[in-house]
Amino acid sequence: MLPRVVKTCARAAGNVSVCGAIRHYCKRNNAPRKIRVTEALSGTEVGTRIKVQGWVRSVRPQKDNLFLHVSDGSTLQLLQIVASPELNDTLLTFGSAVEVTGCLVKSPNRKQPVELQADHIRVVGECNPVEFPFKIKERHGLEYIRQFPHLRCRTNIFSALLRIRSEATAAIQSYFRENGFLQIHTPVITSNDCEGAGELFKVEPSGHHVTEKEGESDGHFFSVPAFLTVSGQLHLEVMSGAFPGVYTFGPTFRAENSQSRRHLAEFYMVEAEISFTQSLEDITKVMEDMFKSATEHILARCAEDIHLFHKHIAVGHRQNVDAMLTRKFNTISYTEAIDVLNRSSQTFTFKTDWGCDLQTEHEKYLVNHCGNIPLFVTDYPYDLKPFYARDNQDHPRHTAAAVDLLVPGIGELCGGSLREERLDMLGARLAQAGLEDSYQWYLDLRRFGSVPHGGFGMGFERYLQCILGVDNIKDVIPFPRFSHSCIL
Ligand code: 4AD
Repeated sequence: MLPRVVKTCARAAGNVSVCGAIRHYCKRNNAPRKIRVTEALSGTEVGTRIKVQGWVRSVRPQKDNLFLHVSDGSTLQLLQIVASPELNDTLLTFGSAVEVTGCLVKSPNRKQPVELQADHIRVVGECNPVEFPFKIKERHGLEYIRQFPHLRCRTNIFSALLRIRSEATAAIQSYFRENGFLQIHTPVITSNDCEGAGELFKVEPSGHHVTEKEGESDGHFFSVPAFLTVSGQLHLEVMSGAFPGVYTFGPTFRAENSQSRRHLAEFYMVEAEISFTQSLEDITKVMEDMFKSATEHILARCAEDIHLFHKHIAVGHRQNVDAMLTRKFNTISYTEAIDVLNRSSQTFTFKTDWGCDLQTEHEKYLVNHCGNIPLFVTDYPYDLKPFYARDNQDHPRHTAAAVDLLVPGIGELCGGSLREERLDMLGARLAQAGLEDSYQWYLDLRRFGSVPHGGFGMGFERYLQCILGVDNIKDVIPFPRFSHSCIL
C-alpha cells in the first residue's frame, strides 16, 4: 500500500540535520534501525537513527513542536515523538497507524527516559477519530470494549491482558518443562466424551460427503461420530503409560448452554498426568506449584500490565494475589465441606446435602470460610465423578479420589483425580455406563504395563481471572465463544 502521507524534514547540515526547532544528533548516513517501542524506551539505542511503527495515542501540536505518543503493543508505555510542526498533518489522528523515523535522544522530561526526534512521519493507515469507538484519554470499561472484539486490542487494558496471557502461557510451559514433563499435542477432534457429561460439539463436514465406495457410507466422515475435545485427559493417560509426567495445553470445547461469568464454549485448558502415584497429594502439589510458579513469573515479567488491572479493574487485588502466593493452600474433604455449609448461617439457593454437587455459591463460601486462600476439596461422592475416577472403596459414604481446587472470587479452578487403574473395577464401571465396547483401548492401558496414575486440568481463563481480578471470563480471552455468540 502506498503511504498516504509522508512528511520529511529534508534539510541537513553535514552529519547533523536541523528541521524546524528540532536538532538531530544522529548520523544520517546510516539506514535507520527498525526497533520496538520497548527497545527504544530501554535507552540502549540513544544516539541512533531508528524507525518505529505503531499507532498514535495522542497528538499535541504546539507552536514550536509537534508531540505525538505512539504505542506498538510491545509495552504499556508510549514513546514520545517530538517533531517540527511542519510534519503535522490532518491525517495524523488518534488511532492512525504511523511509521516514524528519527534520532532517539535522552528526554529532557523526567517522566520518560527517551524521546524520538522525528524527521520523517508516514501515516500508514488513517483512522477517523470520530467514528473510532475508542476516544482519546478516555478509560473505557471492559464491558464497553467487549462490544468491539475486532478492535479492543487497541486499548491499553486489552493489550495488557494479551501480553499477560502470552507470558502466562510461556510461564506454564516453562514450569512443566523445568519439572520434567513432556508436552503432548492431544487431538482437538476425538471420538470420546471424556467427562461423560454429553456437552459435546459434533464434528461433521459442512458439505455433502461422499465415501470412497458410494453406497457404503455410514454417514460419518470419520466412520464414527466425532466431537471437539472436552478434555485431553484420556490421550494423556495413553502417554502416561510410557512417560512419568506429560502435559497438554490447548483449546477445549463444551456445549454448555451457559452465559455465566466463568463458562465459555471454547476455552484453554492446561492438563497434566503423573505416573506412578497413588496419592492425591502428588497431584495437588503440582497444581499448587504450577499456580505459584506461573504467577510469580508473570508478576515479575508483566509488572506494569498487572498493576493496570489491580489499579483500575480490581482495586486492591494485588494483596489477595500475594496472600495466595505466600500461604500454603488449604485442604478439606468434600464431607467436611458439606458439614461447613450445613453449619453456616448463610442461605444457599442450591441444596447442600451429602451427594449434591458443589455449586459456585458453595465454592465461594468455602474459600471465604477457609481464609480466602485457594482450597483443595478432596474425595467427592463416587457418583458425582466420571468413570475414570478411582474408587476409594469407603462404603457406605462411597467416594472417589478426586480433587477440585477452589480459588477466591471464582470457585473451581482445577479438577483432577487419581485414575482407576484396577482393570476389573474399571471394566465394571464402564459396563455399568454402557461404554465397555468403545473403551476397550482404555481398558488395554490397564492390561499392558499399567501403573497407578492421576492428573488434573486447569481452566486457563479462570486462572487469568483469578490473578487479575477480572469478573467476566469473556474479558480474558481474545475471541470469546459462548452460547448465542460466535463473533468474527
Ligand atoms: O473439572 P474439569 O471438567 O476436568 C476435566 O476436564 C478433567 N478431565 C481434567 C483432567 O483431569 N485432566 O475441567 C477442568 C477445568 C475446570 O476446573 C475449569 O477451570 C475449566 O477446566 N473449565 C472451564 N473453563 C471455562 N469454561 C468452561 N465451560 C469450563 N469448563 C471447565
